Amino acid sequence: MSERWTPTSWRDKPIQQVPVYPDLGALKAVEAQLAGFPPLVFAGEARKLKRALAKVSAGEAFLLQGGDCAESFAEHSADNIRDFFRLFLQMAVVLTFAGSSPVVKVGRVAGQFAKPRSAPTETIGGVELPSYRGDIINGIDFTPEARIPDPQRQVDAYRQSAATLNLLRAFATGGYANLENAHRWMLGFVKDSPQSGRYQELSDRITETLDFMRAIGLDAEAHQELRATDFYTSHEALLLGFEQAMTRVDSTTGDWYGTSGHMIWIGDRTRQLDHAHVEYCRGIKNPIGLKCGPSLKPEELIRLIDVLNPGNEPGRLTLIARFGAEKIGDHLPGLVRQVQREGRTVVWSCDPMHGNTVKAGSGYKTRPFDLILSEVKDFFGVHSAEGTHAGGIHLEMTGKNVTECTGGARAISDAELQDRYHTHCDPRLNAEQALEMAFLVAELLKKQKNARGRPVVEAAE
Ligand code: TRP
Ligand code: MN
Repeated sequence: MSERWTPTSWRDKPIQQVPVYPDLGALKAVEAQLAGFPPLVFAGEARKLKRALAKVSAGEAFLLQGGDCAESFAEHSADNIRDFFRLFLQMAVVLTFAGSSPVVKVGRVAGQFAKPRSAPTETIGGVELPSYRGDIINGIDFTPEARIPDPQRQVDAYRQSAATLNLLRAFATGGYANLENAHRWMLGFVKDSPQSGRYQELSDRITETLDFMRAIGLDAEAHQELRATDFYTSHEALLLGFEQAMTRVDSTTGDWYGTSGHMIWIGDRTRQLDHAHVEYCRGIKNPIGLKCGPSLKPEELIRLIDVLNPGNEPGRLTLIARFGAEKIGDHLPGLVRQVQREGRTVVWSCDPMHGNTVKAGSGYKTRPFDLILSEVKDFFGVHSAEGTHAGGIHLEMTGKNVTECTGGARAISDAELQDRYHTHCDPRLNAEQALEMAFLVAELLKKQKNARGRPVVEAAE
């Protein structure tokens, strides 16, 4: 792996999860077109995120990463983006205030379009068709036409990502995210939920604090930290032709950056050491995530870290544990210990979604809230036992009032899943369940902090 890296060197490696495009000429033309488009994010922003994640690795901040399992072309609206962002802000403010920790905010958004699949084809009623691989590749409808990979979809995904990012940037810096608006972020349908009163109380305390600050001469107008927030984007870097086209040299440093999102991650299915996805990611300077599932052995993890973060740079690598409530206790401690023993600096984040997917009696793919919470609790427990930091959480969630995961304070039942099951891929926490999760994580975070004896915390911008 010490061979020279170029944005195309992944093409000489074995690769998993590649769509079969019928027209390679058309694919090439689209990739060339994308290579000429403006970057979606800038190198300086990716570096800023890396510095923020370095703080997470030192236990001085917490990473909140979340969004749809898969974004879709059909659900691209201002309302959707706003509702997601509102929920994200609520969760962030809960974690910042109740967990008294700066929160690094990273959406699974503005680029989360490509999905790895367990099988290349899907059979329904005796008909076998190629699997749906995400809107950037083919269509979700179960028809032969929809399932043909179409390169033009990459251009559409690029344009949707640009529009989404544009709105998110406006929300994050244009006044919407001002802490003075904290009480306005409550979504209509969450208002009469069990979480609503709790959030109301918290936002009242923030208002009170801001009033006090204003009374002593500090106000939001003069302080950017109160008025705006840094919001970053991330997605799984699965479709490498697209990622390659968005790879650019940063003029100030001469380094290569992926400009399709601030942070990208490698999935549990595509993290083979000598394969294409690891090869691509090792050469770009962005913060990288690595999904760690039950088949990952401690020595293998160290070899992956050697390749992905040879300089042991803090903030470069986030290990996203996704074992499942039943398995985390068997797998995570060994990995954490090995990383500690080898002196590697990483962010440990918990994805409690992907290891807890079950088929409900009704036939829907779901995730019980209690299993999700159980994995999160054990994640904190393992880090507390090992003397390391539970650094973050990675959730599949939506600002919409869907019924895809069972349980939560409103106890969504198996029978209710059919009411509003809208996901294009995996089941997501709805806004209430996600906010509830934020309150529960804030408690765990506070406990972790108190156990360490309150370090001095710098305010995040
Ligand atoms: N700038 C700080 C931060 O991002 C405080 C802040 C402003 C904030 N608006 C926010 C925190 C919205 C959470 C949510 O942390
Ligand atoms: Mn998913």
